[in-house]
Amino acid sequence: MGSGIIIAPSILASDFSRLADEVAAVDRAGADWIHLDVMDGHFVPNLTFGPPVIKALRGVTDKVFDAHLMVANPDALLDAYADAGAEIITVHVEACQHLDRTLARVRDLGCRAGVSLNPHTPAESLRHVLDRLDLILVMTVNPGFGGQSFINGMLDKIATLREMTSGRDIVIEVDGGITPETTSLVTAAGARALVAGSAIFGGEGEAGYRANIDAIRAAARD
Ligand code: DX5
Ligand code: ZN
Repeated sequence: MGSGIIIAPSILASDFSRLADEVAAVDRAGADWIHLDVMDGHFVPNLTFGPPVIKALRGVTDKVFDAHLMVANPDALLDAYADAGAEIITVHVEACQHLDRTLARVRDLGCRAGVSLNPHTPAESLRHVLDRLDLILVMTVNPGFGGQSFINGMLDKIATLREMTSGRDIVIEVDGGITPETTSLVTAAGARALVAGSAIFGGEGEAGYRANIDAIRAAARD
């Protein structure tokens, strides 16, 4: 998936009453990917959106759709997410009974396959599925809500995963509490894709989003 830092604004922190405009604005402001937080009210307490909303947004931008499925039964709708235009489909290891099969299915659908780890889940849980993976999403907060504080203990896990995936074309992505301050920590540990919700959408409109994206990019370069 190329090289260099990837910034993936999470639309969870955007204004849902103007979702299409928000996606277009953050695209123009310099987003690399659009991070889509799908929540089902079971795997996580919160509820957001699913395939129909993703499909509707697909017409608004050409940026990569990075779908993060925080759902209890991801297998049931994998085809629907692929059909809606998600290029990356990330499932949670804690939600998959047959992770190897699920990841193979995501690739069969023509998508890139990602797996996410909750804070308590060890890096080791992925050792035997590395061949099936294009992306590992390390949760740096407990999933379910935006605006939480970064968990410092996750830096160790990022570094372990970086070592475990060395020589492979697997992107390490981080999600939760990412700001310019935490960016330098996670990139030093080995993260390449950075999801940020509040730290980007906390700004005022396109100019504010651009300033926030630039600040994260600058912190990643340092
Ligand atoms: C949390 C979501 C995140 C969230 C990040 O469950 O997966 O993508 O939007 O929000 P911030 O950047 O505000 O911590
Ligand atoms: Zn997410």
